[in-house]
Amino acid sequence: MRTRDYEAGVNGRESLRIPFRTVNVRGLELLINPDRFRRSMEEMARVGATKGGGVNRLTLTDADKQARDLFAAWVSDAGLELQIDEMGNMFARRAGREDEAPPSMAGSHLDSVPNGGRFDGSLGVLAALEVVRTLNDKNVSTRRPIEIVNWTNEEGPRFPPSMLGSGVFAGAIALDTAYEMKDANGARFLDELERIGYRGDAPCAPRPIGSYLELHIEQGPALVSEGVQVGVVEGIFGLTWLRVTMRGERDHAGPTPMHMRRDALVGAARTIAAIREIPGKLHPEFVATVGEFSLSPNAINVIPDDVTFSVDFRHNDPELLTEARRLIEEAARREAERENLEVEIQDVGGSTPTAFDESVAQVIRNVSEEAGYSHRPMWSAAGHDARYAADLGPTAMIFVPCVAGKSHSEEEDMDWEDACRGCDVLARALWKMADS
Ligand code: GLV
Ligand code: MN
Ligand code: MN
Repeated sequence: MRTRDYEAGVNGRESLRIPFRTVNVRGLELLINPDRFRRSMEEMARVGATKGGGVNRLTLTDADKQARDLFAAWVSDAGLELQIDEMGNMFARRAGREDEAPPSMAGSHLDSVPNGGRFDGSLGVLAALEVVRTLNDKNVSTRRPIEIVNWTNEEGPRFPPSMLGSGVFAGAIALDTAYEMKDANGARFLDELERIGYRGDAPCAPRPIGSYLELHIEQGPALVSEGVQVGVVEGIFGLTWLRVTMRGERDHAGPTPMHMRRDALVGAARTIAAIREIPGKLHPEFVATVGEFSLSPNAINVIPDDVTFSVDFRHNDPELLTEARRLIEEAARREAERENLEVEIQDVGGSTPTAFDESVAQVIRNVSEEAGYSHRPMWSAAGHDARYAADLGPTAMIFVPCVAGKSHSEEEDMDWEDACRGCDVLARALWKMADS
């Protein structure tokens, strides 16, 4: 990935198409204010907007800073106290009647994958803000304080692994390890965090949380294809990220006979083709992806001597994750040997499968029933900061449908009615949790 990719989306306002498909929420009796929520979603979608209708807000870039600044201004307008921790995680706090009680948190992330969608993450942060604005309008106090969270580097492509801010917060990743990470251009995480002015003073360390709720688009096809309005997320898949490097020998594409070649790209291509077949051997819901690839010297008449690619694989059964890793390593070593290459497999991070808290899931079910929304249980195959929040307190997630189940793409889209329904469920559930 090159630096210009990080910056491409900033100031794309001129080219922004109308952000939302429908704005009609007639017939829904919402607790929240849908017009105010939509205006905030639209304004946030302009930060790092891309020509294709998505956003490019890789973590700790100028666009990420702009999104954070906008969020900070809004939470200040809402009378919240903003605390920023050493990882740049942002906590906007609304006092509770028992202000020492562990807070009820809700949030998500404002960073994106390269040219990603405008709902992934933003929906959860801005819906939580809309809930607090609604409580302010209604002059409602809650027993527990409420904290809206914008987690740093949920996505991970620039500074892998994903869920880094929440991972450090939960004590699963060391702060120094995160600080020393470098992006593909050699920029250090800590330097970038300081450059955008978001290295805060609050310790990024585990503290008890009363509850954590995260609203998110489903990013898959289950809800939309079944016509179900709300996903009650009962757990999250484990995921593993690896980086495989294969080294051969650089040589001339003409005079070098085929039997003398040590072509790193051929070894990598065969390994990747083998990885594609592994999920099918394990389980229908097992997934594996090679999404990042680099090649040296990447010249038409030179035999490639150095290839690095990523592997991302996910499932909710830890034994199958272990077995997949064995099969991936076996494939890489076999194909390296066949082409006489050296191979190195590096761990980039990951998280274990995690079941959410049944009592929080029940609250989401109850409030969905109360509001008359159809719902179904599900697990998330996408990573979310709720994974690490679950280590610190009762946690569950709310999913809403997205068009064609598409995400991590500029084409990601949703019906505005679904966004409002999700925000309404969050409002009802967060209110209950904060009063429990
Ligand atoms: C983040 O969105 C992930 O699931 O990788
Ligand atoms: Mn997300
Ligand atoms: Mn994402």
